[in-house]
Amino acid sequence: MNNKRLLITGGAGFIGANFVHYTLKNRPEYQVTVVDKLTYAGNPDSLKNVLDKIDFVTGDICDPELMDKLVSETDIVVHFAAESHNDNSLKNPRPFIETNIMGTYTILEAVRKHGKRLHHISTDEVFGDLELDDPNRFTETTPYNPSSPYSASKAASDHLVRAWARSFGIQATISNCANNYGPYQHIEKFIPRQITNILNDEKPRLYGEGLNVRDWIHVDDHNNAVHTILEKGTIGDTYIIGADNDHTNNKMVIEMILELMDKPKNWYDHVTDRPGHDMRYAMDSSKLRRELGWMPQYTDTNGMREGLQQTIDWYTANKDWWQSQKAVVESGYREAGEKVVDVPKA
Ligand code: NAD
Ligand code: TYD
Repeated sequence: MNNKRLLITGGAGFIGANFVHYTLKNRPEYQVTVVDKLTYAGNPDSLKNVLDKIDFVTGDICDPELMDKLVSETDIVVHFAAESHNDNSLKNPRPFIETNIMGTYTILEAVRKHGKRLHHISTDEVFGDLELDDPNRFTETTPYNPSSPYSASKAASDHLVRAWARSFGIQATISNCANNYGPYQHIEKFIPRQITNILNDEKPRLYGEGLNVRDWIHVDDHNNAVHTILEKGTIGDTYIIGADNDHTNNKMVIEMILELMDKPKNWYDHVTDRPGHDMRYAMDSSKLRRELGWMPQYTDTNGMREGLQQTIDWYTANKDWWQSQKAVVESGYREAGEKVVDVPKA
């Protein structure tokens, strides 16, 4: 038992809440503090069963005094907190600039002052996108080329972490992960939006033609990778996290969800495409596998099917967690101009 304390930023969000649960179950040697602003995306109910086992602080990572205090009291900071939805960043970029850039800067200054270890959670979207027929996958050395205000703000935060490591010698690692799915994901995001539509007897809604490819990873595989990096990662290094599950939105993901939920495979609507919509993401996580011995559990089509079934079961069993948000999320999409469009099904 080393009784080290982890400060988890954004621990009431999707990946952060799963990280808290994963840590309490699999790494009991850690004490846990969560700091979360509880924006629309933070849900304290995601942690309600473990609130007696953690310290929960409602607060903003952009608050220098709060972050100075919390960082001084911890050993390791795992930084998840962010504005995370591309579509929202197209409507109003400001909170993305504030939280993702200024919030990360505020954490870096506290980490520098108190000499603490930092792991910064980032995304594959900092690399921009690949063409559908490009045989390459993103690696740790792919140049940054972000497309949206969200991905640009995450790219900026990664650059800040690297600059603080090089210029001030802070003890930091970074990971860039593929698209996550699993329990507790906000229903604005692709997979839970479609699952909850179907549970409400509404059709899934596919942007544009639906030929875009995303590389999917179960949230527990992501969080296991983060613990692997905390334990064995080289300070100053970046690690790509992915589970080799790159699939088109239409064929694989929508059709697999429909099949698992006993609906006809073409029971979905095409809707207005996202402006600037990245075409394809694909990750090469061989460095993490080779150097640190990490392996994902939910791999290939069968693993994705198993992970999706578990996710569908969770949303089916936890309607109280999401039902009250559904009308707000859907009217937000309608107000942003989302309309059903006529695209022949491939
Ligand atoms: P999320 O939107 O579900 O959760 C974000 C959490 O951060 C929420 O609880 C929110 O209340 C909190 N937060 C927002 N602004 C804050 C602030 N100023 N101060 C304190 N807390 C604040 O996001 P997520 O999907 O769990 O993503 C977590 C991290 O993982 C992000 O950094 C994101 O960029 C990264 N990431 C996400 C994915 C994905 O597929 N979801 C993939 C790769 C990387
Ligand atoms: P999303 O979950 O927003 O993640 P990201 O933009 O970070 O990849 O979207 C995943 C993919 O699904 C992306 O190609 C956009 C698409 N999408 C839809 O087709 N329909 C939807 O209702 C949503 C929310 C996304």
